[in-house]
Amino acid sequence: MKKVKAAVFASGTGSNFQAIIEAESMACEIAVLVCDQPGATVIEKAEAYGVPVFSFRAKDFSSKEHYEQEIVSWLKKDGVEWIFLAGYMRICGPTLLRAFKERIVNIHPSLLPDFPGKDAIGQAFKAKADITGVTVHYIDEGIDTGPIIAQQEVPVMPGDSEETLKKRIQAVEHQLYPATINELILTK
Ligand code: GRF
Repeated sequence: MKKVKAAVFASGTGSNFQAIIEAESMACEIAVLVCDQPGATVIEKAEAYGVPVFSFRAKDFSSKEHYEQEIVSWLKKDGVEWIFLAGYMRICGPTLLRAFKERIVNIHPSLLPDFPGKDAIGQAFKAKADITGVTVHYIDEGIDTGPIIAQQEVPVMPGDSEETLKKRIQAVEHQLYPATINELILTK
């Protein structure tokens, strides 16, 4: 079966990027990594897996519209059909959203709508939540507000530190994201 082409957008360590690349029987090929932090660890990971990288600095462009136009033309030229955000620390603007309508998906480490935005794991921990989790959702112009596709609960255990909670949440992310991506591609 011919694999659909997808891009991963990430700004950080790239554990989710790695989980997607290493997952078995994926319906998509990761054709490019888009990264806005030229020194990020995820770039080394992409290079190790032979995935082409498009890295940029937002400050080298006059506007979000300008760098997003550049990204869109790269992705369209490559035949990319889906975008999976995995720790991409920028809000997607109308240029990207229009070019990939209902084809941009994000993973967030909480049960949305609880704890949107930065440091969702720290937010849940500080709020002494009993249960938090992971959400996969479509992107819109808000912060972690798009329609929810899949969620999985993660209990906060007595004696958890933020670090142990993070490890359990990430273990769930690494299973849930590739599985949800596959289901989306096969059903859309
Ligand atoms: C993940 O927790 C993801 O849910 C959030 O950013 C983090 C990225 O982690 N959006 P990594 O770079 O994939 O390890």
